[in-house]
Amino acid sequence: MQNSTVGTGDAVTGSVAVIGAGLIGRGWAIVFARAGWQVNLYDLHASQLDVARQAIADQLQMLKQHGLCEQPDSLINNIHYKTDLEAALSGADYVQECGPEVLEAKKKLYSEMDELALESTILASSTSGLMASEFAAHLSGRRRALVVHPVNPPHLVPLVEISPAEWTDPAVTQGARQIMSSVGQTPITVEKEISGFILNRLQGALLNEVLRLTQGGYVSAEDIDKAVCDGLGLRWSFMGPLETIDLNAPEGLADYAARYGAMYHAMAETQSSPPDWHESSVAELHDARRERLDSRDIARRQNWRDNRLAALIAHKSKQEN
Ligand SMILES: NC(=O)c1ccc[n+]([C@@H]2O[C@H](COP(=O)([O-])OP(=O)(O)OC[C@H]3O[C@@H](n4cnc5c(N)ncnc54)[C@H](O)[C@@H]3O)[C@@H](O)[C@H]2O)c1
Repeated sequence: MQNSTVGTGDAVTGSVAVIGAGLIGRGWAIVFARAGWQVNLYDLHASQLDVARQAIADQLQMLKQHGLCEQPDSLINNIHYKTDLEAALSGADYVQECGPEVLEAKKKLYSEMDELALESTILASSTSGLMASEFAAHLSGRRRALVVHPVNPPHLVPLVEISPAEWTDPAVTQGARQIMSSVGQTPITVEKEISGFILNRLQGALLNEVLRLTQGGYVSAEDIDKAVCDGLGLRWSFMGPLETIDLNAPEGLADYAARYGAMYHAMAETQSSPPDWHESSVAELHDARRERLDSRDIARRQNWRDNRLAALIAHKSKQEN
């Protein structure tokens, strides 16, 4: 790694192997390349690399339009496309694995990476739902394996969840955290392994309540989305739920709890049963969405989402400056 060693708190650049060039791998390639890292982007399927090359070029043009990337061409030169795993891992300081979300496939890929990567290389997985203790326990080099879970798309949403297993070396966890800060992401640490990490547990709590409320006939699908995008979500784009309640009572969080705690406690007693996620039970919600958006238009709407996110990030970075 150049400029500094991990752990000193200074900026870090180096060489990263991004393993898997699907939706998430492409986003990670942009994150590292724009921070000045040399990126080896590898996929088992060469055709995926062609798709990734075009998708990355399109995303960089979009970022440029929002003032979030000055020189797409020089950034593109930092990304090297590889069809050989050993070549991709050669000299890598850090690996961001983005292969399929299948436990046996991850275990096999991790065995190969542990064999081929330098002993000092951090092996981080993007997995949404598998824990390091599930896919890396069998490795002789398991001390350098952990989860670094991004939000889609990682080049637009900075949060990453760092989730080590109990046997992950604390220096590796600290190193991953420092690398993430250095490339412009916002790391949080999952102090003890738990399924869903933190973000999806929060999202899960909200989605489970959405299903309870809609299946119970309390609110329509259309209105529930409004409750978030024109209500809670407006505040959440710049402050979290704890700061939100801290500002919602004259004396802060404890005052808020004294005023509204009994209400939330009573609500919680009606929120404990898991809602029904079966296809037949979500059919009505699915149909409501299809009335608003034809399934053939989902890709177009994803581009719209990425554009809105880029505009919001550009706005937030101006405010912070
Ligand atoms: N899509 C999301 O919203 C999201 C968000 C956060 C994390 N993740 C996680 O990121 C990882 C990748 O997800 P994705 O959405 O990019 O999936 P994807 O299906 O778009 O991409 C997976 C890629 O891995 C490649 N691949 C298959 N076997 C491989 C191997 N042995 N070695 C290297 N590459 C291989 C495939 O060809 C494909 O290009 C998953 O673990 C997923 O849980 C996904």
